Amino acid sequence: MEPCRPRLLAALVLLLVMPLAPLLALPAVAEDFRLSDQCPPGFEQLGGDVCRLATLYDQYGSLRGRGVGGTRTGLPPRRDGFTAQQIDLGRYLFFDPLLSADGSLSCASCHDPALGFADGRGRSTGLHGEALPRGAPTLWNSAFLQHFFWDARADSLEAQLTGPLYAPEEMGNNPADLLAALRGNDAYPVLFRAAFGDDSGPIDTAQVYAALAAFEASLVSLNSRYDRYAHGDHSALDAEEIAGLNVFRSFVARCAECHTPPLFTNQQVAVIGSPEPPGLARDIGAEATLGSPKLRGAFKVPTLRNIARTAPYMHSGRFETLDEVVTFYNGGRGHAVPEGEALQLHWHIVSPDLADHELEQLVAFLGTLTDERFLPRVPTQVPSGLAVGGRSAREAPTPTGDAP
Ligand code: HEC
Ligand code: HEC
Repeated sequence: MEPCRPRLLAALVLLLVMPLAPLLALPAVAEDFRLSDQCPPGFEQLGGDVCRLATLYDQYGSLRGRGVGGTRTGLPPRRDGFTAQQIDLGRYLFFDPLLSADGSLSCASCHDPALGFADGRGRSTGLHGEALPRGAPTLWNSAFLQHFFWDARADSLEAQLTGPLYAPEEMGNNPADLLAALRGNDAYPVLFRAAFGDDSGPIDTAQVYAALAAFEASLVSLNSRYDRYAHGDHSALDAEEIAGLNVFRSFVARCAECHTPPLFTNQQVAVIGSPEPPGLARDIGAEATLGSPKLRGAFKVPTLRNIARTAPYMHSGRFETLDEVVTFYNGGRGHAVPEGEALQLHWHIVSPDLADHELEQLVAFLGTLTDERFLPRVPTQVPSGLAVGGRSAREAPTPTGDAP
């Protein structure tokens, strides 16, 4: 629940210290924080307080045997089963810059709900303003993913998030300082007990990771106009968009082989030969993760859900618009790979030779994958009293150089 009582005194103090605000962490009032006992929209509360996603896709069978591109295919296994309180605690943690070493960055700094849970940048900006090697992917539907990061190097939400938390150039924290900050806060110990039980002991890292994973797993986007069409409402898409869907799943364009509905990813890595931004060396991608030279330049096939909200595109933001992306795919197999560089392109990367109007139809179709109905509420304040969300990507300093 949000804090609701206006506190005159607090407001007065706030006015007085306003000029100092950037220097001071204003203590939030502990009693103002309560965890919601309601599951997020789209989830049902079952016995034992656990929230379970309810989606029409559960009426369909598994992917196997249906061919790719089929609209009535089920979803892969998902992370759910968290309680309403755990999810809501994760929401506070996600927006609280207390999680970073200097109190400036929260997860939302680079995964901003107003920017499709990405940050609108080709490459994200780290703690000290340096450009990170890659861009921030959306977090929508991460409950269904088996591998995380562009190079697929983490296998769970919990394993993933220790990356940004403790990387010196990202949030720069360490487990001991993180726990000390949370345990020393007025509100968090109470909130963690509300989420994990009275006997859960002092806050530990497993609880922090579980709450953040619970919140991430609640970010579900499966109610786009495309989905209404998939479930049988043919009026949900117009003729241009339906034509685009047909191009998308055709044997000519082959998009659906990799961006397989309903998640619009087959969760594999693939070498497609997308170019790096000018001046940047080739990012070897999943070669590093899997130790296979064949996978030099391979990246995880990203979901295309809410793709119209998350420009620029590709692992380092090489393309500003979806027009540029479809033009790239139509440019001929390997056309953007610098001469002399031997990348082993995936066999579904073809030279489809689509006409201009078909490229427009593809882009129109990609626009039907937008659904932000279950956008979570951004807290009005976070327990640390620091700025909600921390430094936003929009106000991040101009990158000063490359992170190691
Ligand atoms: C400084 C910016 C920044 C911050 C802060 C940040 N991230 Fe990220 N996040 C990124 C970037 C960049 C990537 C991709 C990195 C890569 O693939 O090597 C990423 C990747 C991810 C992924 C993988 C998504 C996928 O589809 O593979 C998840 C999940 C994620 N972040 C969650 C979080 C959480 C939770 C937090 C807070 C604990 C957080 N991030 C903080 C920039 C950030
Ligand atoms: C062989 C598998 C494969 C095929 C076929 C494929 N893609 Fe991709 N797609 C990928 C991979 C891998 C990436 C990420 C590459 C990178 O970051 O450099 C990607 C990235 C994208 C992106 C950018 C996503 C983001 O979040 O930045 C879009 C949009 C896209 N593809 C659309 C399409 C369309 C449209 C087609 C058909 C014309 C298509 N893809 C065919 C594998 C594929």
